[in-house]
Amino acid sequence: MTNDKDEQSPGEASQDPSRRRFLLTLGGLGALWCGAAAYPTYKYLAPQPVPDPFGKEGKAQVDKISPAEVAQPGMGKNGGYANRGLVVLRKPDGTLKAFDAKCSHAGCNVAFEGDKLHCPCHGGTYDLDGKNIAGPPPRPLTELKVFEENGLLYVARLAAPNKQG
Ligand code: FES
Repeated sequence: MTNDKDEQSPGEASQDPSRRRFLLTLGGLGALWCGAAAYPTYKYLAPQPVPDPFGKEGKAQVDKISPAEVAQPGMGKNGGYANRGLVVLRKPDGTLKAFDAKCSHAGCNVAFEGDKLHCPCHGGTYDLDGKNIAGPPPRPLTELKVFEENGLLYVARLAAPNKQG
């Protein structure tokens, strides 16, 4: 009489220890190869850290807009800062304003059009305070602090509003 537990299946009987070791080594090498092949793809697709546009000094020089070009009420111009789009304008009441030009809908650059800011991609419209007033943009533009220093314009992050009181 034979014990069922002592019997080996045909597959187990044919695997000697050296064959098992060979298959495990092959499997390990295969996994290693897959990991090595996938790593460059992961590095390429992984999100890259975005550098701070205002750097250590906390400000960025404005490109393509001089103080004289926004000196009078009603004046405004598209320019840039830190490889980003920018709009600087002087409102009819004399207030100088700056906005990152990136539309809050899908990221196209808005353009200064005298009494408003217009996005050419889907017709979004913002008022001179950067508030979204028509079209698909869901949020206002990002406002920046703008100031003149040694005859040049600079922008900086607008101070966060105090949430206490
Ligand atoms: S990206 Fe500006 S309205 Fe769509």
